[in-house]
Amino acid sequence: MDTGVRIRRGVPCGAEEQVAAMYWEAFGRKLGAALGPPERGRAFIARHLHRDRGVVALAPGGRHVVGVAGYRLGGRGLTGGGVRDVLTGYGHLRGLPRLAVLALLERTPRPGELVMDGIAVEASHRGMGTGSRLLAEIAAVAAEAGCSRIRLDVVDVNPRARALYERHGFRAVRTERTPYLKGLMGFGAVTTMHRAVPARTGEGPR
Ligand SMILES: CC(C)(COP(=O)(O)OP(=O)(O)OC[C@H]1O[C@@H](n2cnc3c(N)ncnc32)[C@H](O)[C@@H]1OP(=O)(O)O)[C@@H](O)C(=O)NCCC(=O)NCCS
Repeated sequence: MDTGVRIRRGVPCGAEEQVAAMYWEAFGRKLGAALGPPERGRAFIARHLHRDRGVVALAPGGRHVVGVAGYRLGGRGLTGGGVRDVLTGYGHLRGLPRLAVLALLERTPRPGELVMDGIAVEASHRGMGTGSRLLAEIAAVAAEAGCSRIRLDVVDVNPRARALYERHGFRAVRTERTPYLKGLMGFGAVTTMHRAVPARTGEGPR
């Protein structure tokens, strides 16, 4: 289906707020515990976004972001903001418990691995293949970076996202039950999925 939506690497300069709003809409329940309330959380994400660690879908005209997939590679992910930023932004008293929640969400890539940070498509644009195209572009980024594997986590309350990943070659490797996060973040288990990245011939890792 040709929707006129274009996929590009890197979040365009000036689109940080749009991307932060999409992430918040998709993952607010999870992120709210660490970065809420919403206005403050969105501003924190926008301010600390690493634009080079995202693949975006742009509506015709090229200005409006309708989809984003973030990834973590070489110690850097789409969503940034370290300990100091959290303590500066939220104060020491409020910042410390937030850091504890962020630590729970932290996913560090192993050597040769690209970790997907999150994927979100604007509700009005879902079901038209945009999410699939973002996943394909992430796979291309991983191959070009010399990675042999893509890793992601999916929560038990999102079976449709899991089905999408399975259609794109991801396989569940383990499930961690997280009943202690049910009240705080709304999910009771996290499944880690892997997808192998075929080696590119004639090119070494970059
Ligand atoms: C998951 C998501 C990125 C897929 O984007 P998309 O552009 O709709 O994807 P595609 O059009 O390529 O594929 C559609 C498939 O996505 C999956 N999907 C997951 N959640 C969906 C939703 N809320 N609406 C439509 N499709 C959804 C389904 O498997 C769907 O296929 P189906 O219609 O047979 O169920 C998008 O639905 C989204 O942003 N969801 C909210 C955020 C989220 O859950 N992210 C994943 C976290 S692990």
